[in-house]
Amino acid sequence: MNRVLIGSAAALILQACATQSEPPRAEAPKPAATTTAAAEPKPWPAGLPADALYDPNAKNGTIFYVPTTDTATLKQADHPRDLSRWLTRSHLDTRGVPPPVKKTLDGPLNGNPEEGKKIAMNTGAGNCWACHALPGDAQPGNQGPSLIDFAKRGMSDEEVYQTIYDRRSVNPMTAMPPFGALGTLSDQQVRDIAAFLQSLK
Ligand code: HEC
Repeated sequence: MNRVLIGSAAALILQACATQSEPPRAEAPKPAATTTAAAEPKPWPAGLPADALYDPNAKNGTIFYVPTTDTATLKQADHPRDLSRWLTRSHLDTRGVPPPVKKTLDGPLNGNPEEGKKIAMNTGAGNCWACHALPGDAQPGNQGPSLIDFAKRGMSDEEVYQTIYDRRSVNPMTAMPPFGALGTLSDQQVRDIAAFLQSLK
């Protein structure tokens, strides 16, 4: 059985998932209405340990461990949500990954920076702040470079769009998830986040 630990970035996403009522959608997820820009980091939700596991044989493809009362032991349980859409970094995870896509920006960027900020700082959507520092984030992730004054990089709209759509088209070894290629974010959401980044002076 392929039971593999869902990676650290995914674990952060799991944290968000457990706080939302709807399962992750393959396309165009709307930012959760409850999430505001620069929201306070949410506490780790009760009942979702950091060791959620991918198990293709489980009901939702996802299991987790639940402490049993008075025994100090753990039992496996089907996670109520299907978190299996997120890839893991385990060598046991043999599910297919879409090949890198270098997406041409169709027309002008036409992104909404305000929307982009909400999506980037929504742990159930872009979740960029898990790895990058963004303005208004008290506890930024540091796996990726700070994006605080990103516009100073002088990258073109298309370069930013391509980076968010699929960073592998720029850096094949990147740790950044290919949001567009995986369908985690819609084309418009990628545009909105790109517009947000380009507004960070
Ligand atoms: C799992 C961690 C992770 C997540 C989540 C993540 N990134 Fe990244 N990102 C990285 C890393 C690591 C790099 C630097 C390595 C590379 O790809 O060149 C990077 C690079 C970048 C760059 C290029 C920065 C530069 O100075 O050239 C941009 C722009 C960027 N990320 C934007 C985003 C946005 C927007 C999101 C959310 C939609 C996001 N990232 C989510 C890890 C992440």
